[in-house]
Amino acid sequence: MEPYVRPSSAIPDPARIAQYWWDRNAEDYLREHPALGEIRFQWSPEGYTEEDLRLLPDRPGRILEIGAGAAQCSRWLAAHGHSPVASDVSAGMLKAAAVLNERTGVHVPLVQADVTALPFAESSFDTVFTSFGALSFLPDLTAAFAEIFRVLRPGGSWIYSVTHPFSWVFPDSPFAADLTVIRPYGTAEAYVEEADGQAVYAEFPHTVADHMNGLVGVGFLIEGFLEPGWKAGTDETWGAWGPDRGAMLPGTLIVSARRPANLARHRPQPKAGRTGRPRTPSAQ
Ligand SMILES: C[S@@+](CC[C@H](N)C(=O)[O-])C[C@H]1O[C@@H](n2cnc3c(N)ncnc32)[C@H](O)[C@@H]1O
Repeated sequence: MEPYVRPSSAIPDPARIAQYWWDRNAEDYLREHPALGEIRFQWSPEGYTEEDLRLLPDRPGRILEIGAGAAQCSRWLAAHGHSPVASDVSAGMLKAAAVLNERTGVHVPLVQADVTALPFAESSFDTVFTSFGALSFLPDLTAAFAEIFRVLRPGGSWIYSVTHPFSWVFPDSPFAADLTVIRPYGTAEAYVEEADGQAVYAEFPHTVADHMNGLVGVGFLIEGFLEPGWKAGTDETWGAWGPDRGAMLPGTLIVSARRPANLARHRPQPKAGRTGRPRTPSAQ
């Protein structure tokens, strides 16, 4: 299979492709990554948990998790006295979440939803978060950021972890010796897997500028970036994330942002299309 074979613009319906793939691969994903646990809030394969990092507000209020998968993070929050709602586009992932709800006795409400069309009224939540959910499967972050901004109350928090933007230029290997640049930073080509000529998996690289400009463009205030190193004691290698490479380069970016409390002072115009692409002479 040849990766990066399709321009991002040639993937017409990324949410449908994500749904298709995660519906069919939920069980394998959960079996391959025991570190996700059942009642556990892990921010990244480096092994850092919410207990370690304390990124959510002390009083997170009404919480929405997007791209929740089997909802382990929300279940951890519920076990700590909060009342989160866990959402995901994949019915297969939510089915796995329902099984874990039953098995653990910690029940979190599960909602099937695409992050770019959330079935919630404006200002419904005080905190929205995801650990590696949804964003990598979207060519353009702007629509997701705008929708999260909408469902957050003014002053609410948006915290998320994603594959570190630099990771995309390197081979998908956990070894530091393989850190050789093989594709351009900021490529507009997606990682696509196909079956019978149809895309069945698509992931989209985003740059640091995509994140910053996407957030600022819809009106968020960026409160912090975190690039966690490898956590001592974490021994699970996860794709390109492992202790060898993790000692040299961060594999994860974690971002904290806030919807401004004072709406009158922040009236940004959301921009369509990809953000922060490097400008080439021909594009100027
Ligand atoms: C890498 S998994 C992460 C799941 C979970 N947060 C975890 O840490 O195990 C990515 C999740 O994002 C979900 N997803 C992909 N595209 C989505 C979209 N457009 N809207 C909502 N969820 C989406 C997938 O169904 C999948 O459950």
